[in-house]
Amino acid sequence: MATKVIVSLPGEHDYSVRIGSGIIAALGCNLREIERFSTIRDVLVITDSDVGPLYLAQVKASLSQAGFKAADIVVPAGENSKSLEIAGEIWSAMAQLGMGRDCVVVALGGGVVGDLAGYVAASYMRGVPVVQVPTTLLAMVDSSVGGKTAVNLPEGKNLVGAFWQPSFVCADTDTLATLPDREWRCGCGEVAKSAVIDSDDFFFWLTNHAHELANRDSETTQEAIARCVVFKADVVARDKTESEGVRECLNYGHTLGHAIESCASFGTFSHGACVAEGMRFAARLAQSVAPEAGRGAVEAFAEAQAELLDALGLESLNHGLSPEELLAAMKHDKKVRSGELRFVLVDDIASWRVETLSDDLVLAALGG
Ligand SMILES: NC(=O)c1ccc[n+]([C@@H]2O[C@H](COP(=O)([O-])OP(=O)(O)OC[C@H]3O[C@@H](n4cnc5c(N)ncnc54)[C@H](O)[C@@H]3O)[C@@H](O)[C@H]2O)c1
Repeated sequence: MATKVIVSLPGEHDYSVRIGSGIIAALGCNLREIERFSTIRDVLVITDSDVGPLYLAQVKASLSQAGFKAADIVVPAGENSKSLEIAGEIWSAMAQLGMGRDCVVVALGGGVVGDLAGYVAASYMRGVPVVQVPTTLLAMVDSSVGGKTAVNLPEGKNLVGAFWQPSFVCADTDTLATLPDREWRCGCGEVAKSAVIDSDDFFFWLTNHAHELANRDSETTQEAIARCVVFKADVVARDKTESEGVRECLNYGHTLGHAIESCASFGTFSHGACVAEGMRFAARLAQSVAPEAGRGAVEAFAEAQAELLDALGLESLNHGLSPEELLAAMKHDKKVRSGELRFVLVDDIASWRVETLSDDLVLAALGG
């Protein structure tokens, strides 16, 4: 049975996120059910060189059965494809194909394809609809929902982008069967982040089902995705453009996580493993700033979180990086404001806040 979550955002069309096994087959019909898509003909499917050979034919068959004329572009798999150069090639191809404002872009792949195709759609002819068909766990639980799209510059990640909500999201859990283990764990890190920030209910459900999720049990996976989508939809509804301070909670674990990724050179450790390490670190920071009286509770939370991460296969990272280089990398993060280090700290499940911390305190928690 597929699950459907409706995302309602102020000033936007509502959109559905469908989650289930084999639902790509119904993608074309689902799109035809969207009123403003009823007369659309041209669709461009953007995918990458790993995902294309696996799922492009299914997606195109479903689209053509519903009367769409589907073209495709396959970009090289990997973060390097999130570039202005590739975006430019796709815009030119769309113009050469004669695509007008009445076309739809379909993003078939992980977060890289989702962010790239989303940005391409947000800018082509000042904006055409995008449909997300996520094929990684990370993209299903996080990046396909919420409308953040971007490409990278040589100067940094995600520096050029737009908020552009999808018109529909189709998360076919069958596609996860071919996902490498490393990418699976990456998604598990984001599921853990969502559970910690969301609620006792989600956290304890995940704690009880962590081994099933780590072992890719299908029912558990579908429920974990649905819970994450409900959580993210709620956060985004309260802070569509990251201007209200609510969406900042999604950065939990990411400040140190990004620093480890960049110091160790991107790709050495998976993003999920780095985020998990960042969550452990943020819990240490929360303990070091907690008042004496409340420290016991913060420690108990840190322990429960560590057990959850271990059970998900996200053990503590032995990255060997020095506190000083990690501190320098964190200060380069684009989310740093006037040189001050800001962290999402969690004292207990669903109890988060953003705090500015001194370099000395951060260095001490890093073991420097
Ligand atoms: N927009 C957002 O809100 C948001 C949130 C989090 C992350 N992101 C972005 O997402 C990107 C990371 O996304 P990702 O982790 O999905 O990585 P990815 O898109 O690079 O996918 C990882 C690898 O798995 C392959 N792959 C994808 N689906 C597969 C499948 N079903 N079977 C086999 N192989 C498959 C891909 O081709 C790629 O080689 C980053 O660029 C990050 O900035 C965006």
